Amino acid sequence: MVEQAQDFFRESFYNDPAVVAYAPGRIEFVGNHTDYNGGKVLGIAIQQGIYCALSYRNDRKVLGVSLDGEPTFTSSLDDLETLSEDGHWSRYPLGVVWAIQKKGIKLERGFNLAIFSNLPMGAGLSSSAALELSIAYAVLADEKHGFSKKDLVKICMYAENNYVGVPCGILDQGVSGFGREDQLVYIDCKTESFSNVGIPQGTHFWIFNSNTQHSLTDSLYSERFSECAEGLKVAEGFRPGIECLADFPLSKLDSLADHLSRKIYKRVKHVLYENQRVNDVARHLLSDSVDLRTIGNFLYDSHESSRNLFDNSTKELDFLVSHLREIKSVYGARLTGGGFGGAVMAWTSIDFKKSDAAIISKLYEAAFDHPPRILHCKSGDGVHLI
Ligand code: GLA
Repeated sequence: MVEQAQDFFRESFYNDPAVVAYAPGRIEFVGNHTDYNGGKVLGIAIQQGIYCALSYRNDRKVLGVSLDGEPTFTSSLDDLETLSEDGHWSRYPLGVVWAIQKKGIKLERGFNLAIFSNLPMGAGLSSSAALELSIAYAVLADEKHGFSKKDLVKICMYAENNYVGVPCGILDQGVSGFGREDQLVYIDCKTESFSNVGIPQGTHFWIFNSNTQHSLTDSLYSERFSECAEGLKVAEGFRPGIECLADFPLSKLDSLADHLSRKIYKRVKHVLYENQRVNDVARHLLSDSVDLRTIGNFLYDSHESSRNLFDNSTKELDFLVSHLREIKSVYGARLTGGGFGGAVMAWTSIDFKKSDAAIISKLYEAAFDHPPRILHCKSGDGVHLI
């Protein structure tokens, strides 16, 4: 893969890249919409990701090419505030450069960058965070910047929130940054601390992408974000001093019932129980005798909660989860990521085979007239220079 990235760079710019950085995609294991509520989340960095090959220029131009059929772009370090067109992939590299500069590093030289990816785009694996982190690492490879990995994770999230304009939490960038082979990434999103927890041996991850996405996904995500903020405002009245929704004690949830609309109460209930589930799953993963079925049931509960309380599932995702649930080698399955379409993750034993995935695919196609996109994922390392 690295060679392919280098070759692509040479073909595009007629010289060798000075540096290649890699960042992986991620799967959200459990913790749906807990991240921007200051809760906990568990994710997995996978072995597919994005390579950014880069060389520095003697002027201030920024040139980008991507093998994914995306158009080439030309920009400049002096034009970052204005040039990012909506929907164009240049928003990511330019956003990262913009955020790096906002955080105090003055970049003097422009660069050429070539993006090479083996991460399916739009498959719910957060290609945007992988793109951002690989670019941040490549751009800064030659600078004395003093940023830690956590700083860079936050810079990329800042770029996504404030330049690309997506109000996400820290899950995607955090997992792409702190992933490790055979390990989950556990994030305490309030304290922004990252640690790793071993993945039980012999367990596997499958992604079933529904190949459907609500046309309003972005605005529905923002709507949930605002609804949680509304819930927090009321919760603060009952517990002054809480810093985020996840701080509100689950045992006092009932006290909010009469003070919130039914809709906002459901959102709050989801966040508090989901946060509790992440803690429970982490505790089980760390225990001496890991009970895979118990953990799997938490994953199913998570899906039910997203479906009934957070209202971010779809009939396609529910279909996938309910059919996966009938297969013995599946420990648990749930929607993963933002929802409103996108993907389901299945956590399985080694006995779950391609033939099982094919059965699900057939059933799905019969019901929805198109097949899901299926990916068997292995855990892998987080962002690094190659
Ligand atoms: C998207 C966002 C994440 C997180 C998930 C839901 O993937 O990018 O920050 O909020 O949705 O858990």
